[in-house]
Formats: sequence, structure tokens, C-alpha cells
Amino acid sequence: MCGIIGYLGKKNAAEEVYCGLERLEYRGYDSAGAAIIAADGKICAVKKQGRVENLKPYLRDIAGAIGIGHTRWATHGKPCDKNAHPHLCGGLALVHNGIIENYAALKAELVADGEEFLSETDSEVIVRLLKRNFKGDLLAALARTVERLKGSYAVMVICEGIDAIAVAKNRSSVILGYGNGEYFCASDEPALAGKCADICVPDDGDFAYITADGIEIYNKTLQRVIREKRPNTAAAQSLDLGGYPHYMLKELHEAPATIKNTAGAFAAVEDKLKAALCGVDRIIILGCGTAYHAGLVGRRYFEQFARVPAECENAGEFRYKNPVVTNKTAVFAISQSGETADTVEAARLALALGAEVVAVTNSLNSALTRIASVTVPVAAGSEICVAATKSYIGQIAALYLSALAFADCDRDGALKRGLAEMSALCGKTLGQVNTYSLANMCALSHGVYFLGRDIDYAVALEGSLKLKEVSYIHSEGYPAGELKHGTLALIDGDTVAVALIFDGGLAEKSCNAVEQVLSRGGRAAVITNVDSVKKRFAGRAQVIGLCACDKFLSPVLSAVAVQKLAYETAAILGRDPDKPRNLAKSVTVE
Ligand code: M6R
Repeated sequence: MCGIIGYLGKKNAAEEVYCGLERLEYRGYDSAGAAIIAADGKICAVKKQGRVENLKPYLRDIAGAIGIGHTRWATHGKPCDKNAHPHLCGGLALVHNGIIENYAALKAELVADGEEFLSETDSEVIVRLLKRNFKGDLLAALARTVERLKGSYAVMVICEGIDAIAVAKNRSSVILGYGNGEYFCASDEPALAGKCADICVPDDGDFAYITADGIEIYNKTLQRVIREKRPNTAAAQSLDLGGYPHYMLKELHEAPATIKNTAGAFAAVEDKLKAALCGVDRIIILGCGTAYHAGLVGRRYFEQFARVPAECENAGEFRYKNPVVTNKTAVFAISQSGETADTVEAARLALALGAEVVAVTNSLNSALTRIASVTVPVAAGSEICVAATKSYIGQIAALYLSALAFADCDRDGALKRGLAEMSALCGKTLGQVNTYSLANMCALSHGVYFLGRDIDYAVALEGSLKLKEVSYIHSEGYPAGELKHGTLALIDGDTVAVALIFDGGLAEKSCNAVEQVLSRGGRAAVITNVDSVKKRFAGRAQVIGLCACDKFLSPVLSAVAVQKLAYETAAILGRDPDKPRNLAKSVTVE
């Protein structure tokens, strides 16, 4: 999973490619590279391990008007210069986003036939096949090449002696951009923000051939086709840190505005959503990572308000279990990026099985929104930090409102007003919550166990993911009652148990788990808004007290506390929370 960009026009291609790569870096930052057709017609390529900025000094002196670039999240082969794209062979340069599932067989065949590979990547088989298929017609050679591929790919190719970029796509995104005498191709729309007036999204199986005369699109049998163009409305991400040391902290402070804006945006889709959900008797919520955790909270809203069976499943698992879905099932697919391959493909499957598919996303022109019949917007604005913060809180708000609309149970608007009030409460919590001492304790620990019951358990899972993602400390989330069934064996003086207790009714039960930890010499903390719990553990555990709120909306406050805890732990350990090792913001491969 990677970001790819192509430029053909009158400007300096190296600069345009570099700009695109900076915008696409959230998709992977293991290595970056670019290939430009230089003034002498030869391909000039640079590839470097690490961040996009490493390319800057090398691209400065390359003149040329046609180029491609790549920013990598390693799937096959470790992050290093030789595995970086573009892959070069016989006057061709190729960048690839996706996974070639049959690459091992293809590579064995090519090696047996004398081909020498320079990298450990799956992508290199494409350029080596292409070289063999190339007889002067780049597009025809690319079409012959992709016939042999199984898997997902968005591929861009340039060739010495040909003033063009050839593009192929299957189950990996490509956007084509039409500027004034210049043309672009990129993995996503934000990469093209402000760069071109119109864009077009080709279909799976399509090819594009970009020359100075324009962009021609072909279907898989190489027949010319017309795909709809639309105005390019993408806004460039603001890279302004606003005085914060990291995007993670900045974006966490944007959570109150996210709640407010998500509620505002929901009004515009409420009726459409109600109509789409008419007759639905079962809800399935799908997502990955943080989005999945938001779904675990949202599931409770549908059960509570509408009293319909509601499940939440990991999107990657849903795809492969022969799911039971009928035309009375509504599938809510949650994704910040709207491009997560597992979630997009799960939504596609649900649609094929007859479900009503609803997208809950921050990205209104994404692969996910193209599948869904209704999109519930998460108005978080752009989220740059790889670790999701405000988008999680926005997803919870969007699911809360969706459940209310489906249940039609808030005729006087009291529940909606309750959510609106959470925006201010969230801001107050951000200003007051003090997690620094607990962060120090976590930073010195060997493992942190987040505990909770019911809706608190859902947030415990997210707290654990957030901490491990940005601090690299081992962590798990558990139902508070489950600890004694095995995990208690891990508790010792080097571990920390963090209990989330936001439901007065279940408080006593959750407190039992904290007592079990303390009595075995473990260190414990409670994050709670229940007064009796604050008093009970004062002096015996770290107590992080938050203000009273509706039990179903408490995830907004507990999320702020666990996100801040994760951020501070990462900061104490000197980690970069915005770009954690091995991760990427948008996971576009399976
Ligand atoms: O873009 P999506 O919401 O579909 O992304 C899903 C996960 O990859 C994402 O939430 C991931 O778990 C985050 N890095 C968590 O902070």
C-alpha cells in the first residue's frame, strides 16, 4: 500500500511529482522515489529509504516535463533503497500500489528464463514482464502484462523515447486530473487539490494513456471509453501545526469541533438515511482498527435506541466468512479514509448480497462513498496523524445520530441536544484531564491492560490500540470481568491496569477487577466519572476523574482521556506519534 503520482505538462515534473509525494506520504513512508524523462529523453531516477524529503536534494537538478513518483509502505521486501520504487528495466520505469498475489510464480518463471531481479518486491515482476511484452506500443504492452497479474494494482509507467504515461488499474485507486495543458494521475484526490480543474475516476480494469494531447481511457479490451469527468473539489490539507508540537495533539483538540460539525452535517442526510433504512431489521457495522472500535460503540446505540440486532465485525474477517446478509440488512461501513481495502471490499460484498450499504466517513469522494447508497459524513476535517483521534470521536457521533434517526426515538430532540452538549464537555475535558503522571507510569511499564465493561470495554480496546500504536508498549484491552480468566497471570509490579468506569450501574463490577490487580501487586489507574469510584481508589490507584455525563455518550470523554494518555506516553518516550514506525494512514491493501 503506497501512494503514486504522475505528471505530464509544461512545468518541472520533478517539482510536481515531489509535491504530490508530500501529499501522499500518509499512505506510507518507508521509502520514496521518482523517475523523470529528462531533456535527453533518458529516464533519470532517484529512490531513497525513508521519508519523501530525502529525495529533495536529488530532484532539484532534474529537468523534464514527464514524471512518476512513489511513496512506499513495504509489503514485500524490507524498506531499503533497492526495494524502493520506481522499478527500472530496459528503458522503462514503473510505480505500483497494490499487491501482486501471483508474483512468486511469475518471478520463478522469469528467473528460469534468465531474468535478473534487483529487488525483493512483488512489483518488479510487472516491469520485467512489461519489458518482454514491449514492442513499441506502451499501452498494448501494459495490457498484455496485466493480463498475467492476480491481485490489486494501480500502475504508472514511463518509457524512454515515448512522451506519455501509461496507467493500469484494478482494485487500487487512481484519479486522473485534467489541468490547463497538463495532466496528472494520482492515488487520491487530495494529491491533486488545486492542481487541476477536473478529475475522473477510471473503473477497475481500465487503462489510461496520458500525452500532451490529453488523456485517453480504454477498457480492459483496449476499446476507447468515456468516463465521467467532474470538477476537482478536493482541498489541500492544511499542514499548519497551529502551535502544537504534533498533529496528534492538534487533532485531539479538534474533537469538540468535530462533534459539532458532524451533528451539523448530519441534518443534510438524515431524511435520506431514514428512507434507506426503512424496513431494515438488522444492522451490521464494519470497520478496521479504530473505525472498528467506533463500530463497537455504535452497535450499542442501535441496540439501545432501536432494539434491533446489531453486530460489529472486523471488515477483513467479514469478507471471508460467507456472511449472512439479506435485503433487510443495513451495513454501516466506517472508514476515516474511505479507502481501506478490507472495508471497501467488505462493503462491496455486502452490496452484492443485497444489503443497504451506508458509508460513515471523513472522505466524501472516496471508494467507499462510491459503493454506498447513503454517506453519513464525519466532519473531522483532514486528519494527518496516522493515529486516529478526532475521527474516532466523530465516527461515534455519526453513529449515535444514525441510530437515533433509525429508531425515530428522539421526537423532542433531547438526545440530539445531549450530543451537542458533549462538544463543550469534550473541550472542558481536554483542558482539565491530567494524564501525565499515568503516562509516566505507562512509559516505564512492560505492559498496559485497559479494562472496561460494555461500552467502556469498547473504548478500552481503542485506548489499548492508541497506546501501542504511538508508544510501542505492549497493551491489550479486556472486558473487566475477563481478566481473572487468564490474563491476571500477567499482572505484576511492572504492569499497569487502566480501568475505564463510566457507568454507575456497572461500577461495582468493574471495581472488582481493579481490586484483583491491586491485591496481586499490580499497579492500577481508574479513569472514571463515578464519584464513589474516585473516592474508593484515592491513594490506592491513580485516579483520573472526569465529569458526569450520559452513559451512552461517555465514550467521547473516555476517548479523550485515553488518547491524551497515549500521546503523552509517546512524548515521554520520544516517539513520533504522527508517523509511528511500520504504519500508514490509509491501508489500501488486504
Ligand atoms: O481509514 P480507516 O478508518 O478505514 O482506517 C482504519 C484503520 O487502519 C485505522 O483506524 C488505524 O487503526 C489507525 N491507525 C488507528 O489509529
